[in-house]
Amino acid sequence: MPNTNIPVITIDGPTASGKGTVAQKVADRLGFHLLDSGALYRLTALSALRRGTDMRDEHALAKVAEHLNVRFNGGHIYLGTEEVGNAIRAEDVGNTASKIAALPAVRQALYGLQLSFRETPGLVADGRDMGTVIFPGAQLKVFLTASVEARAQRRYKQLIDKGFSANMDDLLADLQARDARDTQRAVAPLVPAEGAHILDTSQMTADKAVEQVLAWYAHS
Ligand code: DC
Repeated sequence: MPNTNIPVITIDGPTASGKGTVAQKVADRLGFHLLDSGALYRLTALSALRRGTDMRDEHALAKVAEHLNVRFNGGHIYLGTEEVGNAIRAEDVGNTASKIAALPAVRQALYGLQLSFRETPGLVADGRDMGTVIFPGAQLKVFLTASVEARAQRRYKQLIDKGFSANMDDLLADLQARDARDTQRAVAPLVPAEGAHILDTSQMTADKAVEQVLAWYAHS
């Protein structure tokens, strides 16, 4: 049974809001574990794309999610023995992840795996439904957001830095489509959890956001 006394900080928000960076830094500062829940949806997408799974077959996709052979180790992500940290960041994988994340059976298949990350001394969990569905009793809930233009700029830089090609107009359109899917889906839509602190990082560095989250946590 997951220990519900272990502290959890949830950081939810839209794609490219900077929550991954902020969550990692907050976890480092507190010596907490990190759950990058988006990576689980991306890993499921990558695995399904590679197997040629029918993207309309919810049951088959849930099976892929249930049998993910994933390992997180020192900032690296392994699928089986292969390091896939960069592969899962590709735009087609992100788009597929956003589509399959709308399927209830896929979300259900990843539920237990997400709970298992709650280990001492604590957990920082980043995603879309960390505060609303997975860890509703979290000690601190943060909703991190930023304008779509600021997020497109960040995604552009991330992709170029990783050696992918990128086009600003395509990125903006992709982000808007993904926001619409993530916020309008019937199951676990992206909404701030009740009691969440809202943090708009459009004009804020990641370090400033980290300080704010740590200050909230100290007073939680
Ligand atoms: O945070 P990210 O961009 O890596 O997430 C990839 C996709 O996974 C995103 O489009 C929505 C989905 N996702 C989700 O539905 N629930 C989560 N807790 C995390 C991600």
